[in-house]
Amino acid sequence: MKIGVPKEIKNNENRVGMTPAGVFELTKNKHTVYVQKGAGFGSGFSDLDYINAGAIILETITDVYTSSDMIVKVKEPIEEEYPLIQSHHVVFTYFHFASSEPLTKAMLKSEAVCIAYETVEDKDGTLPLLTPMSEVAGRMAIQQGAKYLEKPIKGRGVLLGGVPGVPPGRVLVLGAGIVGIQAAKMAAGLGAHVTIMDISMKKLRYVNDVMPSHVVTEFSSEYNIRKRIKDHDLIVGGVLLKGAKAPKLITRDMLKDMRPGTVLVDVAVDQGGCMETTKATTHEDPTFIIDDVVHYCVANMPGAVPYTSTLALTNVTLPYVINLANQGWEKACKKDKTLAKGLNIVKGKIVYEEIAEAFNWSVDAM
Ligand SMILES: NC(=O)c1ccc[n+]([C@@H]2O[C@H](COP(=O)([O-])OP(=O)(O)OC[C@H]3O[C@@H](n4cnc5c(N)ncnc54)[C@H](O)[C@@H]3O)[C@@H](O)[C@H]2O)c1
Repeated sequence: MKIGVPKEIKNNENRVGMTPAGVFELTKNKHTVYVQKGAGFGSGFSDLDYINAGAIILETITDVYTSSDMIVKVKEPIEEEYPLIQSHHVVFTYFHFASSEPLTKAMLKSEAVCIAYETVEDKDGTLPLLTPMSEVAGRMAIQQGAKYLEKPIKGRGVLLGGVPGVPPGRVLVLGAGIVGIQAAKMAAGLGAHVTIMDISMKKLRYVNDVMPSHVVTEFSSEYNIRKRIKDHDLIVGGVLLKGAKAPKLITRDMLKDMRPGTVLVDVAVDQGGCMETTKATTHEDPTFIIDDVVHYCVANMPGAVPYTSTLALTNVTLPYVINLANQGWEKACKKDKTLAKGLNIVKGKIVYEEIAEAFNWSVDAM
């Protein structure tokens, strides 16, 4: 199969859909891989790295699309990319269709096969191609939070780890899922005192078993949250209700109970945020302040650490890419139910019900 790896053109996106190691595996399996010139620069891979792994470098994004049967990328196609996607293409990437009607309509019109990373789902309901990005974002939440706690950037002026003779900072983590556990682990590693909340006792039991004693678990309730926000320096939002908007656990009126310079990092911003005052920000302008409380709400946190994120993502996508290339999408999806869950749009039809529901469309009518 001919596989194309275009350069990401979404603002500030430096990740790439395939590493030279991926190219090496595919060419070993007798496939041809076209990589757009400069596609890997932002993630630390030169064109020569790709050539040495067996890729053919093409000058433009149009060259890559017209030469390839399958496109492997990272972010959902943006408007400029819509006309490049044609009926002979299989496109394997993050799509997040439910949040964009124009993208959904464009992909229906293209008659391509669209397989979305975010809906590839294991038997136990976990989402293996989303997990690594949550791991990155959870760890980053503490790195960013620690930075914005510094006084010159309007934080409380607290060093999370404290020093001998001075107690450490206090971190409240909402949600003990992937983001929450990674955040708690990083904060604990810095020496901070951590409180982690969830509504799942199973998750809290797990955290209690594996984390050191300065990570304290507490059942998530409005009462407990109101009590804790008064003396915690950094609050991380990592809750998720599958297929629904995040619940607003930190309400506007709670800000006045926080100390000036408290930092909120709402990782759940991509699902609407779990804090009432959240609005999505960018890496160029990541924070805003309301009632002296610093808010960090960047929707694509992993994009800031592309060296790590590209490797973390491609570690999990590559086995699926190889299967799709070796067997073709129909056979690969028939054999692998996990991958089949990733099928969102096939040849002008929505095959993932939740997308049609998001726009109140009937699947049959499509
Ligand atoms: N901003 C970014 O760049 C970025 C990157 C990756 C993930 N995310 C987002 O982070 C969020 C968390 O992702 P995840 O992979 O950790 O999800 P997850 O499903 O692993 O964990 C979510 C946790 O929230 C808990 N929860 C639900 N309701 C709660 C409540 N009322 N109080 C406390 N906990 C509650 C669940 O029980 C679960 O343990 C998602 O919205 C995801 O899209 C954002």
